[in-house]
Amino acid sequence: MKRIVIFASGNGTNAQRIIEFFQDRTDAQVVQVLSNNPRAKVLQRASALDVAAFSFNRKAFYKGDDVLHLLKATQPDVIILAGFLWLFPEKIISAFPEKVINIHPALLPDFGGKGMYGMNVHEAVYAFAKAQHNKNPSQKVYTGITIHKVTPEYDKGDFLFQAKVEVSQEDTPEAIAEKIHQLEHAHFPEVIAEFLK
Ligand code: GAR
Repeated sequence: MKRIVIFASGNGTNAQRIIEFFQDRTDAQVVQVLSNNPRAKVLQRASALDVAAFSFNRKAFYKGDDVLHLLKATQPDVIILAGFLWLFPEKIISAFPEKVINIHPALLPDFGGKGMYGMNVHEAVYAFAKAQHNKNPSQKVYTGITIHKVTPEYDKGDFLFQAKVEVSQEDTPEAIAEKIHQLEHAHFPEVIAEFLK
């Protein structure tokens, strides 16, 4: 049985989808959910699904080795960043080489980098689409998701998967966010299962 650890900072709809997807399978399970935010809803979602859930602070993550030691004890086969907003430290990446995977809510390399997370991404995509549609109303504009390996820089690292969806002229940033969440929920668990094969 392969072991999955998820890092998430907020709501955790992706984390929940991944936990539920693997719950009935014999090849892999989510064994732990970790958050930098003790009030993050993802911790409640994980506990409700009988998955161990812990929060940690900056010191335990960057300066000390508490999180690293916890991970070494847990021995994950893959570490999934599902809406995790802190930069992932090099010492953890190098302790688990090629095993840390992130999902980004846009088609990288566009709309990536520091500060580009969650609604910030969808607002930027919305503004870009609006400008394109103003120039040429018949032009199709796309956004999407990128699942990629994690390196010590934000949103770099080899792509494992991308999927795209059209941004229509009627879409608001919230509507774009909804489309992206649907894509993420549809694909992320399958991509993880494939990665673990
Ligand atoms: C997801 O859309 C994910 O792609 C994004 O945060 C959201 C978390 O949603 N991640 C980033 O922006 C990372 N740069 P969730 O909490 O409902 O799973």
